[in-house]
Amino acid sequence: MILDDPSGIGRLDRHGAREVLSRFPAQCREAAALRPEPDRALGRPRLIVVAGMGGSAAGGDLLSVCAGDHLGVPVLTHRGYDLPPAAGAETLVIAVSYSGDTVEAVSAFEAALTAGLGVVALTQGGRLGAVAARHRATLVTLPGGLPPRLALGYLFFPLLTVLARTGLSTLPRAEVAEALDILEMLAAELGPAQPAAKNEAKRLALEIGDRMPVAYGGQLTGAVAYRWKTDIEENAKRLAVAGALPEMNHNEIEAWRAPEAGRLHAVLLRDRGEHPDIGRRFEVLRALLAPVAGGISEAWSRGEGRLARLLSLTYLGQWTSYYLALLRGVDPWLVPMLEEVKRRLRG
Ligand code: F6R
Repeated sequence: MILDDPSGIGRLDRHGAREVLSRFPAQCREAAALRPEPDRALGRPRLIVVAGMGGSAAGGDLLSVCAGDHLGVPVLTHRGYDLPPAAGAETLVIAVSYSGDTVEAVSAFEAALTAGLGVVALTQGGRLGAVAARHRATLVTLPGGLPPRLALGYLFFPLLTVLARTGLSTLPRAEVAEALDILEMLAAELGPAQPAAKNEAKRLALEIGDRMPVAYGGQLTGAVAYRWKTDIEENAKRLAVAGALPEMNHNEIEAWRAPEAGRLHAVLLRDRGEHPDIGRRFEVLRALLAPVAGGISEAWSRGEGRLARLLSLTYLGQWTSYYLALLRGVDPWLVPMLEEVKRRLRG
């Protein structure tokens, strides 16, 4: 069985995604210690726009769900060119692009500069780094060398540091410390050295098997479900679906009457902090899907604070998608189609 075979894993995962994933807690600690340059006070915004794509946008999603209540101002993740119409005076635009060469993020950054808005860039360099340096904008330089989706720590924690410079309150230290401790525990539980019999991520990947994964979150974990979908797509090169309760009860639920339901596998992303009604909706959903779905699995978040709960479920999804890649016999690191799109657009 490939998942418990170190040499088989080594043959497929030639770029060492497993080492990067295992180091994720350390990456988060390093990321929390990164400082902007210049490290100065920033104006207090009334709206925060995090502009980025794919893996670089994920930090914005996590920020709005985890820290939204503390910040007291809305966080909008902008996936696209230019700026969203809501961006007016007193908006802080944080452009995030791990490579620095994602045209959408660069265009948002340039539009914010032109509009005279507060700007910050998070990148390892590239065009975004160059534009930020030319304008002496606040810049957090991230360590390079990773696929962006494996750099979530670098793409999230510096957002908290930057926002602390605006005078907004972000997350209590204890909440961050708890999240880092839980990630460390999970790194040991979910890594390849832990056999399938005791490894939740391997178990989930085996349960999903060849079926199409459908990740469902609740009101808080909907963004995590989306992250599961994109991790499965990029790492395992398989189509996946994501949805969230309660919204899917009002539309997508009907699609489970289709004949292909038997080829789908629902993964219910549960959270002890979920609204009691969301808990009831999950139970009803499970009962309705049981007779038609190819399979159903459930995974629970860990910890008390929101950050620990959301990061623990996200990390579980990263490992599950990694093992799905191995089961499919593909290298989790490479994303040739994604790169081909970028190459063609550049050409
Ligand atoms: C690749 C990945 C992608 C990128 C996206 C934007 O690992 O996760 O979703 O994040 O293509 O590129 P960056 O992050 O360099 O701006």
